[in-house]
Amino acid sequence: MTASLMDGKALAERVRAEVKDEVAALGTPVGLATVLVGDNPASHVYVRSKRNACAEAGIESLHHELPEDASEDALLALVEELNADQRVTGILVQLPLPEQIDEARVIRSIAPVKDVDGFHPVNAGFLLQGTPTLLPATPAGIMEILAAHDVSLKGARAVVVGRSNIVGKPISLLLLAEHATVTMCHSRTVDLPSVTRQADVLVAAVGKADAVTAGMIRPGATVVDVGINRVGEKLVGDVSPDAAEVAGKLTPVPGGVGPMTIAALLRNTVKAARYQAGVLAFPGA
Ligand code: GUN
Repeated sequence: MTASLMDGKALAERVRAEVKDEVAALGTPVGLATVLVGDNPASHVYVRSKRNACAEAGIESLHHELPEDASEDALLALVEELNADQRVTGILVQLPLPEQIDEARVIRSIAPVKDVDGFHPVNAGFLLQGTPTLLPATPAGIMEILAAHDVSLKGARAVVVGRSNIVGKPISLLLLAEHATVTMCHSRTVDLPSVTRQADVLVAAVGKADAVTAGMIRPGATVVDVGINRVGEKLVGDVSPDAAEVAGKLTPVPGGVGPMTIAALLRNTVKAARYQAGVLAFPGA
């Protein structure tokens, strides 16, 4: 058996076209401020892709760069400025940040209504309590991929490997909201393969090549590969290539979750602009 591939690239193109129409129909300016601190080469690539996607969708991209040795105070001052700027309807501070800067503190400084990454504790809390606002982009993109491929979640056994705030925790909550029975696994999980083999839907968000191998997958399961790992010149996911012989449906790397992450960011950026234009109510505001 060979898994059918869930093409995130084609789906992302459809979403981006949809977002472009929504931006045009909104009639008020949509502006995403991106903030890049330091010299992380991967971060530069990611931010460039996000800015290009904005431009294509008719979203103004307002970009800021700070040096690798920038102080936390300098970054907090910039975020404060962006919070107050009417042209800025969304703020994205690219992670990771240099070690002298407290990431959590910076995330907390972003106005929740402009937090297009969905990382602010207010937005994370709304997700936890079942009132989704701005969702972290990677998990939101994964849910769109599963929906587009008619993956049934109600009552399904979902196993998530990885417990980050960016992917593992929020995707677990989104799967739970769709009535999956969710198990969260991580580096301390005892006998990981025996748990992953239970999964109807398996999400690998570990950040390590070959973290999920064919023997860890139930035949016919749906497998979502969130990893982007550099091995020599090649980009590979967290799921080893032999998984395609066992899985029923599988996201490729590249061309699976990655493109949908950017598409979901654009969706969030429009949603944030709607909150600020007053056409959508931010809960509690
Ligand atoms: N670093 C890795 N993933 C992300 C993301 O989704 N948003 C931001 N801001 N930084 C990241």
